[in-house]
Amino acid sequence: MKRNVVWHLRFSQQARWTADLRRYVFSQISNVHDILEVGCGTGAVLSDLPDFDAPGSPVRLTGLDLDPDFLQTASAGLPGARFVLGDAHILPFSTSSFDLAFTHYLLLWVKNPLGALQECRRVVRPGGWVAAFAEPDYGGRIDYPAGLTILGEAQEKSLQRQGAEPRLGRQLKALFHQAGFKEIECGVIGAQWQSQPTSQELDLEWEVALMDVQDDFSQAEISAFRELYFGPNNDAENILFVPTFYAFGQV
Ligand SMILES: C[S@@+](CC[C@H](N)C(=O)[O-])C[C@H]1O[C@@H](n2cnc3c(N)ncnc32)[C@H](O)[C@@H]1O
Repeated sequence: MKRNVVWHLRFSQQARWTADLRRYVFSQISNVHDILEVGCGTGAVLSDLPDFDAPGSPVRLTGLDLDPDFLQTASAGLPGARFVLGDAHILPFSTSSFDLAFTHYLLLWVKNPLGALQECRRVVRPGGWVAAFAEPDYGGRIDYPAGLTILGEAQEKSLQRQGAEPRLGRQLKALFHQAGFKEIECGVIGAQWQSQPTSQELDLEWEVALMDVQDDFSQAEISAFRELYFGPNNDAENILFVPTFYAFGQV
């Protein structure tokens, strides 16, 4: 599969995990017409925003990302939106241009998460909102059965090698406070395992894990993990839980 297709599938899967949270956040805020996603990737979240109250005024969507290939995919999927190549640390927008700026699995990847949040704050009008919908914390990850724990630990190290901060989640409340927001709400997204993952979801999870750790283990070790991952009782018994924090606050 092409890089963009794998990532778009992955981003769309992650967007489904946070759909209920987005509905909740949009129910708590109002007068939101101009919306910016910083680090929008392939546009998976921008194309899955809940309906919200914007009487008489159409919603205008803007996505910004460093990756031109991702932006091309985003633009093809959401032709009505505006997509801009840029860096979260120096947003190419005037002060008070948006009603809402949000991120989704971004802050763990940026060099200066506080600076990026302060930039979001700058481009949002007074009274508007900034939301970080999903920031994981791999320090609280739970893998079951126990044989998969080592895979989880390797994935955390791999994220560090790639330049990410895998324990950003626990810092999110402090970052929102330090960036000067009001009315901050912060929490952890819940997890339920009532329904069985589809084989496509399991395949995607495995493909992402493999990309992260394939250089850390021998072929035999990878095969053993694969056995645990896709074993006969996997659907019914396995647990993979990464606490994922969210926060939103008013400018
Ligand atoms: C894990 S992806 C999430 C994409 C999208 N938010 C989603 O959830 O579908 C992180 C995205 O942030 C982008 N990114 C990383 N650092 C960035 C920066 N400094 N400025 C803008 N985008 C950045 C990456 O190119 C990537 O598209």
